[in-house]
Amino acid sequence: MGGTGKGSHLIRLLSLFLLLAGLVEMVKHEDFKTCSQSSFCRRNKAFAEKQLSSHASSPYALEEATIKFDAGILSGVVKKTLKNGGIVELPLQVTILKSGVARFTLDEQRRRDLNIVLPDGKEKRVNKARYNEAEKYTIVGGLEVDTQVEMIKRDGDTIINYGPAGSYSVRIEHAPLKVIFSRDKEEQVIFNERALLNMEHWRPRPTPKDAQEGEEAASTTDDNGEDTTGMWEEDFNHKPDSKPRGPESLGLDITFVGYGDVYGIPEHTGPLSLKETTGSDGAFSDPYRLFNTDVFQYEYDSPMALYGSIPFMQAHKAGSDVGVFWLNGAETWVDIQKTHLNPLSFSKKKAQSTETHWVSEAGLLDVFVLLGPTAPALYKTFGELVGFTRLPPLFAIGHHQCRWNYESEDDVLDVTANFDNFDIPYDVIWLDVEYTVGKRYFTWNKDYFPDPVRMVDALDATKRKLVAIIDPHVKVDNTFPLYNEAIAGNHVIKNADGNPYEGQCWPGLSVWPDFTKQETCAWWASWFHPSKFEGSKSNLHIWNDMNEPAIFSGPDISMHRDSLHQNGWEHRDLHNMYGTLMVKATYEGLKARDKEEPKRPFILSRSFWAGMQQYGAIWTGDNMGTWEHLESATATNINNGIAGMSFSGADVGGFFDDPPRDLLARWYQAGAFYPFFRAHAHIDTKRREPWLAGEPYTSIIRSAIVLRYSLLPTWYTAFHEASQTGMPILRPHFVVFPDDVDGFKVQDQYFVGDSGLLHHPVVKQDAKSISLYLADNEPYYCYHTFDLKQGRGRHTVAVPDLTYNPLFIHGGHILVRRDRQRRSSELMRKDPVTLVVALDHAGQATGKLYMDDGETFKHERGEYILRRFEAVGERIASTNLHAEPHKAKTYEESIISVRVEKIIVLGYAGDVKRARVTQSGKTHEVDVELVKKLSNGRKVLSVRDPAVLVSQDWQIELI
Ligand code: NOJ
Repeated sequence: MGGTGKGSHLIRLLSLFLLLAGLVEMVKHEDFKTCSQSSFCRRNKAFAEKQLSSHASSPYALEEATIKFDAGILSGVVKKTLKNGGIVELPLQVTILKSGVARFTLDEQRRRDLNIVLPDGKEKRVNKARYNEAEKYTIVGGLEVDTQVEMIKRDGDTIINYGPAGSYSVRIEHAPLKVIFSRDKEEQVIFNERALLNMEHWRPRPTPKDAQEGEEAASTTDDNGEDTTGMWEEDFNHKPDSKPRGPESLGLDITFVGYGDVYGIPEHTGPLSLKETTGSDGAFSDPYRLFNTDVFQYEYDSPMALYGSIPFMQAHKAGSDVGVFWLNGAETWVDIQKTHLNPLSFSKKKAQSTETHWVSEAGLLDVFVLLGPTAPALYKTFGELVGFTRLPPLFAIGHHQCRWNYESEDDVLDVTANFDNFDIPYDVIWLDVEYTVGKRYFTWNKDYFPDPVRMVDALDATKRKLVAIIDPHVKVDNTFPLYNEAIAGNHVIKNADGNPYEGQCWPGLSVWPDFTKQETCAWWASWFHPSKFEGSKSNLHIWNDMNEPAIFSGPDISMHRDSLHQNGWEHRDLHNMYGTLMVKATYEGLKARDKEEPKRPFILSRSFWAGMQQYGAIWTGDNMGTWEHLESATATNINNGIAGMSFSGADVGGFFDDPPRDLLARWYQAGAFYPFFRAHAHIDTKRREPWLAGEPYTSIIRSAIVLRYSLLPTWYTAFHEASQTGMPILRPHFVVFPDDVDGFKVQDQYFVGDSGLLHHPVVKQDAKSISLYLADNEPYYCYHTFDLKQGRGRHTVAVPDLTYNPLFIHGGHILVRRDRQRRSSELMRKDPVTLVVALDHAGQATGKLYMDDGETFKHERGEYILRRFEAVGERIASTNLHAEPHKAKTYEESIISVRVEKIIVLGYAGDVKRARVTQSGKTHEVDVELVKKLSNGRKVLSVRDPAVLVSQDWQIELI
């Protein structure tokens, strides 16, 4: 990225000129630290470079005499030997979980014992231990220890065999410490292979006399050869960070043996298969950064941090998947490098490996190793640890209309009316910050919103919802009840000096609730009660924005790291978790609001951390209205889903700028295939509701939205599957075809859940064609025309005009849609469905359908239907998959009128005119129409109104 010499000088001058001329807008790099500006990242990088260039061995060793093994948990002491001969003791624990996951934890004895002296004055406030509460706020299950496993301690190493039939093992080489995780005797994941383990131990702060007069403690090297720069204080953009606990970062190299592709660690732009950040050409020049922050006008191909962080990485190769979860909510950097093998060498290592290097600023070293062996197994075990996507209310997967800002009640109701006038379905209208009195959340500006209850009721009458924004910054204003309660109740984050931490955000000077405190969460939740927040009825839902937290006056546009949460933890310890803790408190508030039968809350959050999927959706923040941002959103959304955060989308149209109308239309076509589908725009942009685009654009946008609505049963079924299994909703090729090496980097198309729908958004201006990748030889049917594409490899598919949105159905799948267009999802709930049966080459297909009331928690008590459809030969049948069908009775009765009104069969080989329908022991016959002959001689048929019920078993025979 950076450059030297005359050329780059010229480029900088040119950029400056363009900037001044207002021709390009760009991210303010100077607001955000690079690795070299972050002292702990720089120190770890320098350590790594030194270790690698000198081939030095690791100064860490597991002391054999300390090793104990008790009921699935190995404990011992790792000793770090300093250059001066000193020893630092690091308690180690390796825990084998019943799920087949191994957990590796390193702490620091001296900090654990609190046996350290902090600089004056900080003593009482700052917790001296390494942060150990990430588990408390993140892990929701899957921690049952496998007490049956056995440890084999030998001279020099210790082995634990575990996992299915003992096929997994972890071998710990004692000195130097190296940890090798294997499956079926094959090495998969190695810790400290490259000797980069680095636990920055506590040391006393050098007294001023240790440093020479006038020399910054910053520029010295200590007697362990470590650069002490920034160890005890750091300044970024004149924003100081006092570091009372001194250096406490942790670094570890993790090698994925034989894995050429790694994915995940959102949130970033850039490719799906993560780029190298060090080493080869074309790589990013900085590590991937995980630090939730508000990046104004972010770049579309960059390892820079964005709004969310999930330190989960998946490594994939043909026939195998493994992953690691780095449980650390502090700022984290991840370097990625691939091994470059010489094909002529005699080395045993034949496949490319990925070498990663993880560095966090503070806390325990706590890593979960998941040995797959498949992607579904990986997602399942990861989901058990951090939580699965919670099934959202149905409306939340409909179409959302947002802008900064809808200005008044009239504006909101006008927009709603226009959606109806222009016949465009929509479920939710959004209010951004301007609805409040001076960005004091939970208040309404009555000049423009005189009667929130009336407005919410008016929306309800049209079966629409309102989402209102509530940010975490609380305006400092002693006439503002929220602020007064926050201070009086001791709910706010403190400065290092013990006073409330204050910073600048939308309302001016603000304070931030400490969502690590239970009492604070309960207090926050109470504000969603209609007695405190007018209009907070069950069709009002919430947008938690700016919750990284974004702080305009803070370093990295966020909170000073040395501010204090409860129990003396510094903000640095848990920064990346903050936003999700806020959303959790909001969720509890919304849920508690309905006394009778709680409705499922919907919350959109900008910040996220592992487990956010239990509370709502996220979006990719302030993107630009450019083709590049449209293109890059696909991989970003997929990678969010890989790490469990499937309910993700990007602002349709782009947040900044006025997108040209063709781009807007293309974005709606892409957005209709984001799990979270919302149009949004910056306050300075022109209004761009779909009808303003004019024809043909309005019609193109309408079609995209109508397509989304007709496929809601399929989307909802995919969400249900994610809620049970952790499977991503946007499914990339490498997940669906794990052995197809050519698909590992495919990132411009993806499948929707298990439906067989394959979408390839058009993301290039004036595209005349797309290159569609097919991973197998099954038929793929064009969704719109049913025409065939077949043959493994790349196909050039013509894009005749803007109306064409490339969508295919993979042969072998049955999907469900609803063909009657309605104003909103609620109005579709009792509509009949259409089944699309896309036969594979053998004439077979299967599919699933999940349905429930779409709004309450009754599904958790079994009130839902789960059907399996199967087509074999001449027979198509629906059977029950609900394990406890008696629990579904009430729901089933409520949808007893919902029937299958049409079955479209794609790729049928025979000749039929009639179908025999059997349900509840009764039989009747209906007509079968020939819709089309396909290029392979097969046919598209339509079974007209078989009148079978979605909730019941039935069977249809083509005769
Ligand atoms: C930042 C969010 O990213 C954006 O979507 C929102 O419109 C503004 N904050 C104003 O609330």
